[in-house]
Amino acid sequence: MNEKRVLNQPGFVLAFRLLVALLASVPLLVLIASIASQSLGPDPGQEVTESLGIAAFQLLIATLCMTPLKRWTGWGAWIRVRRMLGLFAFFYAVLHVLAFLQFILGWSDLWATFTKRPYILAGAVSFLMLVPLALTSTKGMMRRMGRQWKALHKLVYPIAIAAWVHFIWQSRSDVGEMVVYGLIIAVLLALRWKWSGSRALIPFVRG
Ligand code: HEM
Repeated sequence: MNEKRVLNQPGFVLAFRLLVALLASVPLLVLIASIASQSLGPDPGQEVTESLGIAAFQLLIATLCMTPLKRWTGWGAWIRVRRMLGLFAFFYAVLHVLAFLQFILGWSDLWATFTKRPYILAGAVSFLMLVPLALTSTKGMMRRMGRQWKALHKLVYPIAIAAWVHFIWQSRSDVGEMVVYGLIIAVLLALRWKWSGSRALIPFVRG
């Protein structure tokens, strides 16, 4: 049996999807282990919020990588894990926001936080745009919305940019790491532009 046939076998694709689900769960498992062993450092609430934020951001970037990987390798399984990765990114983003509300803000003064910490605004914009994508991620919604689905899901590009702005704005150190993330996002956007034209990057526009 040749290599391509093995890679496309349902069993192999299923194993790949399970592996991706396992890898995407690693940040949560590591966090649970650190909480259980009480090794989160002097400010556990901050640590929990930050690690959930970084997991959401990395999984968002991973989601954006799936189309280029499919194009370069010709292997359809990359696209079959794209929705799962996007939902994992949303899941971590929800936990990140909840951790912020619980551990950093204490569920008070929600409005003032936007003026005191303006980077939160970029995070909130990114998060609010993620919500409709998660809500319309089912196959049924995809079918019902038709071409509008694609137009809506182009929101993933401004979401990634807003999350990056949120990340770099609040950073106190290691700007190098943020520059690397910024470059990855820029390359992913440039590839999309090259392959599908500028309209492919503009949400709510067909084509
Ligand atoms: C309402 C929405 C959001 C709020 C209130 C929020 C709040 C925060 C806060 C308080 C921090 C920690 C800052 C510090 O260290 O003092 C943070 C960091 C971060 N957030 Fe958010 N965030 C939101 C949405 C998002 C979204 C949607 C993403 C990604 C998809 C994200 C990714 C990150 C990242 C990557 C960090 C940096 C973590 C690190 O320093 O290692 N955030 N956010």
